[in-house]
Amino acid sequence: MIAVSEVSKVYPSQVRGGRPLVAVDTVDLTVQDGEFVTVVGPSGCGKTTLLNLLAGFEQPNRGEIRLDDRPVVRPGPERAVVFQQPSLLPWMTVKENIAFGLTLREGTRRVDQIRIASMVETMGLTGFENHRPYQLSGGMQQRVAIARALIIEPRVLLMDEPFGALDAQTRSEMQRFLLSIWGKLHPTVLFVTHDVEEAIMLADRVVVMTPRPGRIADILTVSLARPRQWDLTLSREFNEYKRKILQVLRPPEERDPVRLA
Ligand SMILES: Nc1ncnc2c1ncn2[C@@H]1O[C@H](COP(=O)(O)OP(=O)(O)OP(=O)(O)O)[C@@H](O)[C@H]1O
Ligand SMILES: [Mg+2]
Repeated sequence: MIAVSEVSKVYPSQVRGGRPLVAVDTVDLTVQDGEFVTVVGPSGCGKTTLLNLLAGFEQPNRGEIRLDDRPVVRPGPERAVVFQQPSLLPWMTVKENIAFGLTLREGTRRVDQIRIASMVETMGLTGFENHRPYQLSGGMQQRVAIARALIIEPRVLLMDEPFGALDAQTRSEMQRFLLSIWGKLHPTVLFVTHDVEEAIMLADRVVVMTPRPGRIADILTVSLARPRQWDLTLSREFNEYKRKILQVLRPPEERDPVRLA
C-alpha cells in the first residue's frame, strides 16, 4: 500500500561550488497495510530524509512514492508524524495537545470530548489531562505526541526515533506500549531508530540502510511471535537477527568472509 520506487533525494551543497549531497539513493520499498516496518542505519544515512519524503515534507529528485496508488506530493492527515522531540505546544494542556489535530480539522466546538478522554485513558495519562508539557516526564510527553498523532486515525504512522531521548527502562515500556496500541488500532507504522534491538523488537520487517548515500542494504523479515516480551532479547533467535543486522551495518573491512543474507 506504500510503494517507494527508485527514490533518490539530493540536497544542494551548503557551500558555494561544493558538491551536492546524495541523502537517499535509489530506494525501493513496499509496505503493506498494517505492517510494522523499522528502519535502522548509521547517523546521517538518510533515515529522517526517507521519513520526510514519506510524510510529504520533501519531494524526491528521482523516483516516486505512492500511497494507495496516489502519488505523495504533500503532507496529509492520513500520514501522522511523531518526531524525536515530543514537539508539544507548551501553553496547551495534555488534553488540548491531544485534540490539536482534531481541532484544526473540526473546529474547537465540534471536537468529541469522549474521544479525547478515551485516548487519554488508552495512553495511560488519566489524571494528567490538565497538566502542561513541562509538568510531564519525557516518556509521558512522548505519549501525548503519539496520542495526538493517533487521534486523527491515520492510516500511516511515521515515527522518527521517537524514544531516542528516553532512558532504557522508559524506552522499553514505551516499546511495549506502542506494540499494544498497534495491536489494537493496526496502523501501518514506519519507525526509524538506530537501536538494533529496538528495530527487531518492534518489527515485522527491518530495513537496514548503508552509510551515506543511504541505500537499502538488506530487508529482514522478523518472524518472532507476538506479543513480544522484554526477555525476548535474551533468546537465541533474537540474537541471530541482531547478528545478521550488525553484520550488514559493519564497514566492509570488518565483515566476516561469509556474508549472511
Ligand atoms: N534539508 C537539508 N538540507 C541539506 N542537507 C540535508 C538536509 N536534511 C538532511 N541533510 C543531509 O542529508 C544527510 C542525511 O540526513 P538525515 O537527517 O536523513 O540522516 P539520518 O539517518 O536521519 O541521521 P541521524 O541518525 O543522525 O538522525 C545528512 O548528511 C544531512 O546533513
Ligand atoms: Mg534522523
